[in-house]
Amino acid sequence: MKKSIWITLLLAAVLHAEGDTRQIDRVTGLVVDKGLEDIKENCTVCHPGRFIVVNGGDRKFWRYKISVMQRGFGLWDLPEDTKARIVDYLSRNYAQKRNVSIDR
Ligand code: HEC
Repeated sequence: MKKSIWITLLLAAVLHAEGDTRQIDRVTGLVVDKGLEDIKENCTVCHPGRFIVVNGGDRKFWRYKISVMQRGFGLWDLPEDTKARIVDYLSRNYAQKRNVSIDR
């Protein structure tokens, strides 16, 4: 009996730790964190935030995506500090391909 209580508590703790407690911005559907304002000004003007993060990767990946946007899709020049915040934000919060749905 006692043992099962401990197992239950342990399981609850593990599940809780795994729960994603990050706050989600209602407008973009993206995680609230430093850099989101820059994303709103420079990225979600053209496409929904969740569309950007269907794929994910490290800083190199995100720098590359930004350069693709600039070369082919009409994204303007970004000041270095703005670009750094965007790359930091995306690589910190969207480092992996994940199961995001773009219509939520
Ligand atoms: C001037 C408009 C415009 C801006 C600004 C813009 N994009 Fe895009 N983006 C596009 C278009 C157009 C597509 C292609 C959509 C399609 O393939 O249907 C796209 C596609 C994407 C994709 C998916 C395609 C791929 O190659 O993976 C990502 C990721 C992306 N944009 C990231 C960004 C980020 C990050 C920013 C801000 C730094 C940004 N975009 C700003 C127009 C823009």
